[in-house]
Amino acid sequence: MEKLLIICSCFCIGAFCLNVEDIASGFRRELHQSGRHLMYMDLETVDVFGNTTNLMYYYSNLYFGDHDNLSKQSLILDTGSGITCFPCKDLCLQCGKHLNTYYDVMNSKSVEFLNCKKDHCTCSTEDRCFFAQRYGEGSSYLGFWINENVYLNSQDDVNNTIKMTVGCVTEETKLFKTQKADGIMGLSTAGNLKSKPIYYHLHEAGLIEHLEFSLCLGHNGGKFIVGGYDEKLIVNTSEECQQENCLQWTKMRRDSQFKVNLEKIKVGNIIIPSKVKIGFIDSGTTYTYMTSAQKAQIDRAITSLCETGDYNCYGKKVGLGCYKFKETKSLSVKDFFLSYPILSFVTKEGGTIKWFPSEYFIKFKDKYCLAIDPYGGGAEIIMGGSSMRQTMFIFDKDNNRVGYARAKCSEDANMIMTDSEIFASNKAEKTKEECYNCITAQLSDEPLFYGVITILLLLIFCLCTLVGYKCFKKIRENRQTRFIRYEVDANSSSVMRGEDSIQLELDEVPH
Ligand SMILES: *[C@@H]1O[C@H](CO)[C@@H](O)[C@H](O)[C@H]1NC(C)=O
Ligand SMILES: *[C@@H]1O[C@H](CO)[C@@H](O)[C@H](O)[C@H]1NC(C)=O
Ligand SMILES: *[C@@H]1O[C@H](CO)[C@@H](O)[C@H](O)[C@H]1NC(C)=O
Ligand SMILES: *[C@@H]1O[C@H](CO)[C@@H](O)[C@H](O)[C@H]1NC(C)=O
Repeated sequence: MEKLLIICSCFCIGAFCLNVEDIASGFRRELHQSGRHLMYMDLETVDVFGNTTNLMYYYSNLYFGDHDNLSKQSLILDTGSGITCFPCKDLCLQCGKHLNTYYDVMNSKSVEFLNCKKDHCTCSTEDRCFFAQRYGEGSSYLGFWINENVYLNSQDDVNNTIKMTVGCVTEETKLFKTQKADGIMGLSTAGNLKSKPIYYHLHEAGLIEHLEFSLCLGHNGGKFIVGGYDEKLIVNTSEECQQENCLQWTKMRRDSQFKVNLEKIKVGNIIIPSKVKIGFIDSGTTYTYMTSAQKAQIDRAITSLCETGDYNCYGKKVGLGCYKFKETKSLSVKDFFLSYPILSFVTKEGGTIKWFPSEYFIKFKDKYCLAIDPYGGGAEIIMGGSSMRQTMFIFDKDNNRVGYARAKCSEDANMIMTDSEIFASNKAEKTKEECYNCITAQLSDEPLFYGVITILLLLIFCLCTLVGYKCFKKIRENRQTRFIRYEVDANSSSVMRGEDSIQLELDEVPH
């Protein structure tokens, strides 16, 4: 009974209350440095800005319009949706204040408006091709389609452009209104079929040979690469490299979204009992989303490994997935990270997408907490920006596969580079056998602590219930994290109707 109470309370606090505090706060193909001046760019790198700790998303700049008067737009990099759009001057009257000035559609010499009849689209009252998109976090964009020149870099040659179908936004809501970034860069093909991601256009124009891009998201900033990936950022490039943090590949489940088949989640050598089947790689989402049961199991597995002494665990556990740690002369933040196990997402092919403590812990005031938020995903987990950190993710559409490798996407003195570093700092052995049913830590191990927590949780629960919807709504409004994921497109609902899994996802999205 007590256990049940605790689990219920944990769920409540996990789902609603904890979040308040959490949130209130040599290339594979030679890169020609001169490539941007050539007609055939093959591979081009663009800087990424932002983080999951403070800004809560990652963005890159693209340049639109006339070559001699380019309009810079900072766009959220989102592998979870497919539309690229940003606000238009004089048309988006209620739009927010963003990093750059609005794109001036009416004065562009290179813009083409899509034609309702010719382009077979839903017509707006102004006789323009209308689009609307909602995202998982409840925000939305409305506007119309245009074709406009786009450049990856402002110094790009006038011939290094492509005409891309993008959304000219006339209405933005919620986080899209309050955010710093101007708009969004959808990188998947789920969504409106009118608009294709930028690398499709570059590929069709013959500017890149491979239909491929990669994201290397760091602690702060990173790289967005079209046409391939940058081997120089990868930690272990050894040829015979098998498992040790080097490049591995896994099949994509479907063409339109970046989902991979997962077999299990491991914490150190412990296998989490709860089944996982799908990992949805979604750069537009800040944290990693899984059920509260899965989060609790991960928490308990870590506690088990701490209690057996396999890992030194220098932090003091303070609630679900959180550890208090203060740097001292003898123990640095890196020592703290090194004293915890690696979290592994094991793919169906047997590869492991590794999530290191220096990436899965996010600092909130004086504690470090797992960058995992609960949601009712079941067998599908959303691997958001937090689990993509310091890993090169390669989205190879030519071969319908995703590559991943530990990478130094941005400088970070506390980054753990390899497994070996962790095993050298702890008693745990790298070769230790996988372990089913061996989470030994009991929730009642600390009766006083959990007793107090239970009472607190009950109080909060009652309060939440009393204030009910208001409390929940307020908490939702306080959220600053992003959950950007293609949800429903008013314009193309008939196109999407046939896709069961999309329908399924709609039901799973939290509100
Ligand atoms: C996160 O990114 C933003 C935008 O680039 C930057 O202003 C901020 O300082 C970064 N925060 C951290 C903790 O790196
Ligand atoms: C450049 O574009 C801006 C609007 O984005 C416009 O106000 C300005 O007149 C343009 N300059 C030239 C030289 O075309
Ligand atoms: C751009 O392409 C055109 C036509 O192919 C060519 O005449 C022109 O020289 C090119 N411009 C540059 C700067 O390469
Ligand atoms: C790279 O991987 C190989 C074999 O998997 C390993 O022997 C080597 O130590 C690793 N190098 C680094 C820098 O981690």
